[in-house]
Amino acid sequence: MTWEQLDWAALERLRGLFLSGGAAQGPYWTSPADLASYDFTYGERIGWKWDAVLQELALRGWKPRATAVLDWGCGGGVAGRRVARWLGRDRIAVLRVWDHSGLAVDFATDAARHDFPGIRVEQVTPGFLASDEPVGVLVISHVLTELPARELLALRSLAARAEVIIWVEPGTPEVSRALIEVREQLRNRFHVIAPCTHQAVCDLLAPDNARHWCHHFAAPPPEIFSDSNWVRFGQRAGIDLRSLPYSFLALERRAPGSAQESASGLSRVLGEPRVYKGFARVLSCDAAGVTELTLQKRDDPGLFKQFKRPAGAQVYRWIRAGDKVLAGNPLTQ
Ligand SMILES: C[S@@+](CC[C@H](N)C(=O)[O-])C[C@H]1O[C@@H](n2cnc3c(N)ncnc32)[C@H](O)[C@@H]1O
Repeated sequence: MTWEQLDWAALERLRGLFLSGGAAQGPYWTSPADLASYDFTYGERIGWKWDAVLQELALRGWKPRATAVLDWGCGGGVAGRRVARWLGRDRIAVLRVWDHSGLAVDFATDAARHDFPGIRVEQVTPGFLASDEPVGVLVISHVLTELPARELLALRSLAARAEVIIWVEPGTPEVSRALIEVREQLRNRFHVIAPCTHQAVCDLLAPDNARHWCHHFAAPPPEIFSDSNWVRFGQRAGIDLRSLPYSFLALERRAPGSAQESASGLSRVLGEPRVYKGFARVLSCDAAGVTELTLQKRDDPGLFKQFKRPAGAQVYRWIRAGDKVLAGNPLTQ
């Protein structure tokens, strides 16, 4: 696929379906060209969100032990391919793809085989979905808004067979809230790897925090801003290319009887720091809850500078006096 081959009409039709809720009415891919155009543009943007999530998981010093990956609701298959690249040939025994659109399954299979000739790529059968076979690493990307309650229930029973779940969605309040619900349902059986730095109940569920949601921002590759094709795509699709908000969840099954791990001492910034003249505010989440913290520039000028240009996962170890940040050390590898 090249920019010249892009099917703009298909992209406009898809965008209409995503915005109107029509995408929840059943399979909507009409041709491999639809998928190729999507994968090249919208899919690539989703890939940048996956890059941010996988970088954060690496920062947390974590990789899944399971070697089978299942990309559920694969569409063009960008999520499965990003995970395969992250895991590397030696840590992945099979990449499985599933979508209720056969066209999507075929496209994702071909794309993964093309990019990773050394990796076994399989199409999941309805029999596998209905079985109780282990799933390994369950990868879910940008599907939540398309699932009626019945389908979400089926996905939950698949999640119960997974060793690991990595789930990335748009960073809207509604979708973040839905992911928090998933977290709470699975928290007893799964260890929360990220974005949370703790295993406690999500404090965003507290009535006082109703106006907040758990979202983060990925950085697109800087070169796209001077690429006339991407700029034109942003204009035609009505997308601000600079803003890539996402919500996510990475969970790993607990060994039976294992204790809940104690708090890590780390905090995760939600959204982005808000920087004013001489001070900044961040919404910080940790085992003690979600708190609005204030940093005076004079207390930690280096941190203030980082808040101005946040890069990578915003995970910190604070030195605090009440709701004041006196200093903050970012988690580094
Ligand atoms: C917005 S696309 C995202 C595709 C891909 N996961 C990505 O991140 O680019 C949503 C995908 O979910 C699929 N989907 C929606 N409902 C589904 C269901 N009930 N079972 C399987 N796939 C479903 C659609 O066919 C579509 O391919």
